[in-house]
Amino acid sequence: MTEASLLVFAPAAFRYHDTMARWLVYGCIVLLGGGLAYFAYRTLRSNVNPETKASPYRNTSVDVRYVGDETCARCHPAQTEGYRRHPMGRSLTSVAGRLPLERFDASAGNPFNTLGYHFAVEVGAGSMTHKAVRADSKGAPVAEENSRIEYIMGSGVRGRSYLMAHDGYLFQSPISWFSQKNAWDLSPGFEHFYPPDRVVERLCLFCHANQVQPIGHTRNRYQEPIFQGFAVGCERCHGPGELHVRARENGEAISASIDDTIVNPESLPPNLRESVCQQCHLQGEQRLLRAGHETFDFRPGLPLEDFWAVFVADNSTRKAVGQVEQMYESRCFRDSKGELGCISCHDPHDLPAPEKAGEYYRGRCLHCHNDSSCSLPLVERKLRNDHCSDCHMPRLSSSDIVHTAAKDHRILRDPKKNAPPLGQPDVSQPGSMPIASFFEANSANKRDLGIALLGLAEQPGPRRQQIVPLAVPLLDNATASASRDLPLLQAHAWLLALQGDETGARQEFDKLLTLAPDYELVLGLAATLAERALRPEAAIGYLRRAVMVNPWMWDYRYPLARLLADKQEWHDAYAECAAALRLSPGSDETRTLFITCCLHVGKAAQAKAELEKLIALRPKEERTLRSWFAAQAPEKGE
Ligand code: HEC
Ligand code: HEC
Ligand code: HEC
Ligand code: HEC
Ligand code: HEC
Ligand code: HEC
Ligand code: HEC
Repeated sequence: MTEASLLVFAPAAFRYHDTMARWLVYGCIVLLGGGLAYFAYRTLRSNVNPETKASPYRNTSVDVRYVGDETCARCHPAQTEGYRRHPMGRSLTSVAGRLPLERFDASAGNPFNTLGYHFAVEVGAGSMTHKAVRADSKGAPVAEENSRIEYIMGSGVRGRSYLMAHDGYLFQSPISWFSQKNAWDLSPGFEHFYPPDRVVERLCLFCHANQVQPIGHTRNRYQEPIFQGFAVGCERCHGPGELHVRARENGEAISASIDDTIVNPESLPPNLRESVCQQCHLQGEQRLLRAGHETFDFRPGLPLEDFWAVFVADNSTRKAVGQVEQMYESRCFRDSKGELGCISCHDPHDLPAPEKAGEYYRGRCLHCHNDSSCSLPLVERKLRNDHCSDCHMPRLSSSDIVHTAAKDHRILRDPKKNAPPLGQPDVSQPGSMPIASFFEANSANKRDLGIALLGLAEQPGPRRQQIVPLAVPLLDNATASASRDLPLLQAHAWLLALQGDETGARQEFDKLLTLAPDYELVLGLAATLAERALRPEAAIGYLRRAVMVNPWMWDYRYPLARLLADKQEWHDAYAECAAALRLSPGSDETRTLFITCCLHVGKAAQAKAELEKLIALRPKEERTLRSWFAAQAPEKGE
């Protein structure tokens, strides 16, 4: 078995990896660490105890509680007000709390037609519905999916994504708002394929929301109410506030040098200061949790590299697309010996109005430079109001792509002359390591590099063949000494599958499922593998478990129905297929299977009704469909 066939064949979980690849195509470095790695595992912490880290701040300890923005607001109204104007202070809202931005008329592409669907957005007072409709040749709706939107991700600087919730499971709508186009369109990743189940995983929320509590080893289920604070909150940069609030309320004595109950990023040494922003702004090529850590374990005041491994394109081919990597390449950063950081120029509590931005950032440059630092004559600079960043940090061509820098943070001397191109790394040298750890301290870790390489190998393309062999010794080696590191075991099992060792992969998947019976992604992968190996019984078993863990996935329901139908277990097939069709009413393949199931459980009228819908959607195939239907009549006595 080649890995390519595995991907093409994959009904369930592998398609998810494909979806991720499309995000990358779109330009979003989604840090997917392979989707393998972005699961935080509640249980089975292995070897790292966060409390062993010494920090001058007492609120880095795991047992200090978060208090929420409302509490901070009581004593810090100015910072609160300033922060709420910043896009980060608006990164996620409920539908009712949304700030108006989108337009809903036809000129904003509402509705729009693509992929055989008619997509539309409807708004009411405090509500929003996204519709995906398939219509007959006269435009009358035949199959209609209405999704009630609960949450909105993105302040809207570049765009917004919309989230649905079912019993604590979060999904992303196929429809997004694109601010620069001023229009609705398909969400990134949906361009070629609908309907995928776009689960909203914890990493996505780690960067875009304040705090969530993931449930077990599900991909997208959270304790309700799902969000403890919608937008990125004060404590994501200052650390949990329990001690500070208590101390300030009780008028406890605070040491003269620092208030050790709350982190002020400004007072941190450079690497810890940068960690605060890098939590969310350092995306890299691959990003994954280090062994024994969960997604929300990091606390400001601690080194990010203890919690996350981040891999960037190797130095020799480095073409940085994110603000952090770009800033690290700048001479301002390298020659200021750690003085320059994100907060040299950005204050999260003080976003300058657009018309004042040029002057504001000029002031920031002049903390270190002076009027005569620039070798360009002042008269020429005055043509641009001497706004330093206009010339030295120009807008990049990728400026409309989410998750890549819009302004060139390399702060080049003369961007017109000496600007090396930016983009993806290329792996033209066979056998060479395409990525390197961003953090010096982690560079020798085989586990992290192995998982990251596998994540990279998931992106379709020629480099997969070159990358997989590099991962083999690393993962073999790391796995030998770690028996309870779930993401590692999962990566290793998947590697075996890619190498064609089905038996080995199956054993490792089963071992994982003993350790974590609700490990949703593994259930999907194991089912895929079992079906490939012509073990439908096993595949059915895994898929049934996957449905129990997550009942909202068409990606589990439909293949389960198909396998049950193959085995002529019609009643079960009917039930699963009916559920799959409810989840994805516009899917022709689901409807086709459903018709067959109806016929076999004696629901002839329902079968006929669904056939008429299918014909209405595919009028050109009417003849074929009718004769197919006629030939479906089940054997007598069934
Ligand atoms: C009961 C009032 C009170 C509450 C509630 C409160 N603070 Fe403070 N905080 C203070 C006072 C007083 C100071 C010291 C004077 C100042 O900087 O305003 C302070 C100082 C700070 C500092 C600067 C510390 C330094 O060493 O530079 C930060 C940062 C801070 N608070 C953040 C927060 C955050 C975040 C919250 C919510 C989790 C919060 N505060 C809640 C009263 C409060
Ligand atoms: C918990 C995650 C998180 C942390 C921590 C974080 N950011 Fe952000 N930041 C975001 C997200 C998400 C956005 C996009 C918000 C939006 O537009 O919806 C953003 C946007 C920004 C922007 C763009 C504002 C604009 O005008 O478009 C700046 C600048 C920024 N952050 C600076 C910082 C700095 C400086 C730090 C560290 C002090 C920091 N961020 C820490 C998540 C984070
Ligand atoms: C590692 C952190 C990180 C992850 C993971 C991440 N994002 Fe982002 N996202 C950001 C930051 C930071 C920004 C703003 C700056 C930028 O675009 O570079 C942003 C910008 C966006 C924006 C534009 C917001 C605006 O106001 O213009 C959208 C929409 C978005 N992300 C959606 C998503 C979705 C959906 C996911 C999950 C599939 C996701 N992001 C995963 C960090 C992240
Ligand atoms: C994205 C990171 C981030 C978030 C979120 C954030 N802050 Fe800050 N805060 C900083 C940084 C960085 C400083 C250091 C000085 C500066 O740049 O203003 C700071 C400084 C402060 C100070 C010290 C006084 C001052 O203005 O320098 C207080 C008080 C404070 N923040 C309160 C809050 C409160 C309250 C919230 C939530 C409403 C909040 N912060 C959200 C990053 C953040
Ligand atoms: C924390 C201090 C600091 C800040 C803030 C800072 N720089 Fe620099 N910058 C430096 C140092 C140090 C150097 C190297 C020595 C020199 O050329 O002065 C440098 C070098 C440069 C260079 C020469 C680059 C090269 O490749 O030769 C340019 C251009 C520049 N800075 C522009 C800016 C602009 C524009 C801003 C504001 C947007 C800015 N700097 C903000 C410290 C800083
Ligand atoms: C030398 C000054 C400087 C430093 C340092 C700096 N920025 Fe910026 N940044 C800017 C300027 C100027 C803009 C453009 C703002 C505008 O147009 O309103 C910007 C824009 C941004 C934006 C929004 C547009 C974009 O490029 O995507 C984000 C996000 C951002 N910065 C994040 C960061 C982060 C994270 C860091 C630290 C790694 C950082 N910046 C360091 C000057 C700086
Ligand atoms: C109109 C565009 C423009 C503006 C505005 C501008 N610069 Fe420059 N700057 C340049 C160019 C072009 C060069 C390179 C000239 C050369 O090769 O000698 C340069 C060179 C520099 C250098 C390198 C000087 C050296 O001797 O190595 C620094 C530092 C610098 N600029 C800082 C600034 C600062 C700070 C500001 C704002 C106060 C600023 N620039 C405003 C275009 C500009």
